[in-house]
Amino acid sequence: MTAPIDPATDQDDALRIEAGRHLFAQECRFVAGAATLQMLPPASLVEVAFAGRSNVGKSSLINALTNRNTLARTSNTPGRTQQINFFDLGGRLYLVDLPGHGYARASKAKIDIWTDLVNSYLRGRASLRRVLLLVDSRHGLKSSDRDVMDMLDTAAVSYQIVLTKVDKGNKSDIESLITKIKAELTKRPASHPEVVVTSAVKGYGIDMLRAELATMAEVG
Ligand code: GTP
Ligand code: MG
Repeated sequence: MTAPIDPATDQDDALRIEAGRHLFAQECRFVAGAATLQMLPPASLVEVAFAGRSNVGKSSLINALTNRNTLARTSNTPGRTQQINFFDLGGRLYLVDLPGHGYARASKAKIDIWTDLVNSYLRGRASLRRVLLLVDSRHGLKSSDRDVMDMLDTAAVSYQIVLTKVDKGNKSDIESLITKIKAELTKRPASHPEVVVTSAVKGYGIDMLRAELATMAEVG
């Protein structure tokens, strides 16, 4: 049985997508790279952070959303992003690119420093509206993701799961992964119940994510 078409919902979606497109057509510029908490820019704008394991596609997703290839630096080598990078989108929203958690091709000492920095930022930032926790659609949730989710649940910081690289996976595997993750999220108080599905390479899901982010941006 197919769901009946609801013209009101269709129209709402179209308006939301248009608002997202409009927001992301604004200029986006790099404002700060923080290697320590003291280097964070003032919390003057609402912000959304891109978190997730090394190499999951955080920087690539920021580039896809903003339609720029080289705004955030990406790499095949896990551990590319080594500081907290702030991008100002039209004076309405900071997009915040984080170093990866979990495995990275870097020394343990370095990883410990990034992890402390990222955790302190995520727990303590008043202007942080939502954390997008990116998860590779071929691998699913790992224990390091669950550690981040535990921390965000405890700190009552709102977060949402975003599956990445869906161009590399198969549809039924991805559907069953979504079902599994949604079931797990019902027990997590700070989580958003919907899972966003994306491919930065193919552009899949980018419009919907822009629409979602537009609902969080400051009115401008
Ligand atoms: P760190 O900064 O090291 O934590 O990594 P990151 O999460 O920022 O990942 P990054 O965006 O640098 O991407 C890592 C690799 O995955 C790069 O080789 C990207 O080209 C690739 N990649 C990212 N998104 C996608 C996607 O949607 N599809 C495919 N096929 N590859 C992707
Ligand atoms: Mg990166």
